[in-house]
Amino acid sequence: MSEAFIPQADPRASYLAERAAIDAAMARVLASGRYILGPETQAFEQEFAAYIGARHCVGVASGTEALVLALAALQLAPDDYVATVSHTAVATVAAIELAGAKPLLVDIDPATCTLDAAELARALAAAPKTGPGRIAAVIPVHLYGLAADLDRILELARRHGLRVIEDCAQSHGALLDGRRLGGFGDIAAFSFYPTKNLGALGDGGAVVSKDDALAARVKELREYGWRERYVSHLPGMNSRLDELQAAILRPKLRRLDADNARRQEIAGAYDEGLRGLGLGLPARRRGATHVFHQYVLRSAKRDQLRAALTTRGIGTNIHYPVPVHLQPAYRGRIAVGPSGLAHSERAAKEVLSLPMFPQLTDEQAERVVAALRALNSL
Ligand SMILES: Cc1ncc(COP(=O)(O)O)c(C=O)c1O
Repeated sequence: MSEAFIPQADPRASYLAERAAIDAAMARVLASGRYILGPETQAFEQEFAAYIGARHCVGVASGTEALVLALAALQLAPDDYVATVSHTAVATVAAIELAGAKPLLVDIDPATCTLDAAELARALAAAPKTGPGRIAAVIPVHLYGLAADLDRILELARRHGLRVIEDCAQSHGALLDGRRLGGFGDIAAFSFYPTKNLGALGDGGAVVSKDDALAARVKELREYGWRERYVSHLPGMNSRLDELQAAILRPKLRRLDADNARRQEIAGAYDEGLRGLGLGLPARRRGATHVFHQYVLRSAKRDQLRAALTTRGIGTNIHYPVPVHLQPAYRGRIAVGPSGLAHSERAAKEVLSLPMFPQLTDEQAERVVAALRALNSL
């Protein structure tokens, strides 16, 4: 008898784990008659800001728009560059252009797959300090649930006057030196896409900041630039978190730490079971708590491994198969850092995300390990 398929991610399982609370929350909203920017959104914004340890949270329609609005609130000039990585969700880079600035893609540190601070320093040394073409901001992406090299990035930002936008779409609840990611930069963007560590049952996002003026600007920009109803003070847009998603996120936020602890347990089992097979296992960063949005292996034989796992009923994914600078929409027209993007291009060929979600059972994790051990001869 063939064994049941193990998915790579399972947002339905995360709904079922909190089904009673979520069903009650949805019924409450449906009966309330308030569907946009009501008490649930307000309560969630307060609860999430308190959780992150930031003064403000503004609920928005997606992680992409959280980045766009965070960048727009910084009021960059059209010729300003925003440095970030190519090995990320395309949204990170798309948001820079949507906000009217220019992306500058710098390479990753191959050990952690996050922005290489030394390469950012080289890019800053090569760029004009002021005026057109200056690097005005940086978006460190806390990829897969691990903090980017914030110590060095924040130091560079201080020295060069860069604004720092943390992309926290994959790092809800992750810590650095005991503080939650999202509280380090000027402003941070979160996604609540259903498979995220904190996921809604539809699209959603949030901007978090300790800066009163920036948060106030994001709040205006998410709703037509209104300060008071029907009067726009800024040219804004519509990007609101809806009441249903906010109400669903509240019970899910209460279990986020427990869910992250379970992800760490599964990662520990993978680490132990996969040691010695010649696979690249996920690095940790000193002082950082990895929350394993993804557990990502590296192997030169990635495609063979993936095919063999699929045959054995084990779902995997590739985050991400094509670096942003090589995608048709961006190829040949995006600025890149002084050393090029060789590490990003290599990562795209080697990364493989194993099944990872809090409801994955010990037996399922053991099946994944056993399958990879059996494939060791590949
Ligand atoms: C690193 C990163 N940034 C931004 C986003 C965009 O979030 P969303 O899909 O909610 O627009 C995602 C998620 O896809 C992501 O993983």
